[in-house]
Amino acid sequence: MTGTGPLGHPRLHLRRTTSTNERARALAAGGAPHGTLVTAAEQTAGRGRQGRTWTAPPGRGLLCSVVVRDPPRLLPLAAGAAVADAVDRAVAGSRERPRGAQIKWPNDVLLRGGKVAGILVEGRPQERWAVVGIGLNVAVAPSDFPPELAGRAATLGLGHEAIEPTLRDLLARLEHWLAADAETLLAEIRARDALLGRPVRWAGEEGRGDGIDGDGRLVVITPGGGRVALDAGEVHLRGPEGS
Ligand code: BTN
Repeated sequence: MTGTGPLGHPRLHLRRTTSTNERARALAAGGAPHGTLVTAAEQTAGRGRQGRTWTAPPGRGLLCSVVVRDPPRLLPLAAGAAVADAVDRAVAGSRERPRGAQIKWPNDVLLRGGKVAGILVEGRPQERWAVVGIGLNVAVAPSDFPPELAGRAATLGLGHEAIEPTLRDLLARLEHWLAADAETLLAEIRARDALLGRPVRWAGEEGRGDGIDGDGRLVVITPGGGRVALDAGEVHLRGPEGS
């Protein structure tokens, strides 16, 4: 049975910490139950995928990590679908189209072409737990992004009071997608695929995104017409917006 059930309890909220993922991992290793949530207003060593960092001005980003026991195989994709849903719902007051948020495989969430959220899934499969860490730019001002991210990062552009409701909604959507069957989840990911038909570069190779296969891998067509399926974590991907 994969991890299902309510998320967000117990909750540890910190004004300042190194990394919510680090704290949640320590709690999980110590036996914390499924759904344990760590949030912070500020991180001093926020971690991203493939050794990158994640930064957000204090009190302006949604920074959270959730312990998932018996994680499903497609957990990173479930997290991406949940965040994309939460992004759409948070901007629903504006005139965004349904499924406005896109997913740059495996789980970067893009809004209007810029990265609005990043997800870092870490775990210990042998102990049957994982931590889903999410950074979502809820109330970050465009001027807060460093120059090197200009045009590549996005924000919901809401006030800081939107962080808690967005978190609640995000957890509800994550509960939903954790309980969904693989085909329904894959259909959702395919409908939000930011790389479909777009140039993809990885490990010195290049091609064009050709969808997501039944195992959640990114399918790429190479210039010679071959098809390869890329596993998350194995490749450092450069997508259309160059991140
Ligand atoms: C990425 O895009 O590379 C993933 C970024 C993940 C950032 C979040 S912020 C909350 C949680 N704690 C961390 O240290 N990282 C994740």
